Amino acid sequence: MSSPTTTANSGQVEYWNTSVGQIWAEHQALLDRKIKPLGEIAMKALRLQRGTRGLDIGCGCGQTTLDLSEWTGPTGLVTGVDISRPMLEIARNRPRPSVAGAVKFVEADAQTADLTFGGEPYDFVFSRFGVMFFENPDAAFANIRKALKPKARLSFVCWRSPEENPWMTEPAKVVAHLVPPPAQPQAQDPLAPGPFAFAEASRITGILSRAKFINIDVRPLNMQIGAGGLDDQLILSLQIGPLGAIARAHPELVAEMKGPVRDYIRPFVIDGKVKMPAACWVATANAT
Ligand SMILES: C[S@@+](CC[C@H](N)C(=O)[O-])C[C@H]1O[C@@H](n2cnc3c(N)ncnc32)[C@H](O)[C@@H]1O
Repeated sequence: MSSPTTTANSGQVEYWNTSVGQIWAEHQALLDRKIKPLGEIAMKALRLQRGTRGLDIGCGCGQTTLDLSEWTGPTGLVTGVDISRPMLEIARNRPRPSVAGAVKFVEADAQTADLTFGGEPYDFVFSRFGVMFFENPDAAFANIRKALKPKARLSFVCWRSPEENPWMTEPAKVVAHLVPPPAQPQAQDPLAPGPFAFAEASRITGILSRAKFINIDVRPLNMQIGAGGLDDQLILSLQIGPLGAIARAHPELVAEMKGPVRDYIRPFVIDGKVKMPAACWVATANAT
């Protein structure tokens, strides 16, 4: 398999090709169940038509690429692009929907690769939580726009701030008393590549307009999300997000962390299913 075409995002290439990419690949079914409804809202905003061609940026394990191809149908084409080999391997081996059209999964850096891969430009571009990890978002979105036809539709969903998504950040806080403080506490750059890099709507609007997108609309999406029951959510909380990073640094403490994290999740269980309030943006635009 070829390597991503650039080192621009080498830190992220490493991140998504080692433990984190493997964790996403291992827990693909739980993660898909949890975030599927959020992706579906962003997908509907594309107003997809049969026979069209599209790009899925940061397609990960491929659920959204396959879902998009059900909309574009047997004469359409959807290309999923990602830098994570373990996640692309899951994507390539998933069963294809019976009515889906052509689907391709390509290992490439969306910031720098020619995303047409020598073919025709696309009618639309989509992403579910795959566009917040670029070292240079201006360059990345200019590169994405270059691969689109004039007037092509863009839609993506990304997280709002950590404060508005306590389901992601609180599990790390409830185990803080168990974990030794870091020798040199690091100040976090809120704009650094990561899940919350697009927390400010004005940042998204600026990036898209500098990349020559028009008709830009960034609107809040609030939804109760969950992967299943309490045990399913416990697995995800201990592996993904800020607590996942702490747990990987302190595997010897994971058994002790389970009690406080379980206690945090429990009030969100309704009829056996976890439902936690999530706060996102859905950004839509058109290419010039
Ligand atoms: C939070 S995951 C979301 C995966 C998938 N879209 C989903 O919803 O299940 C972020 C994804 O973005 C990918 N990614 C990060 N930087 C990228 C880049 N420069 N080019 C392409 N993909 C990238 C990661 O490898 C990862 O699969």
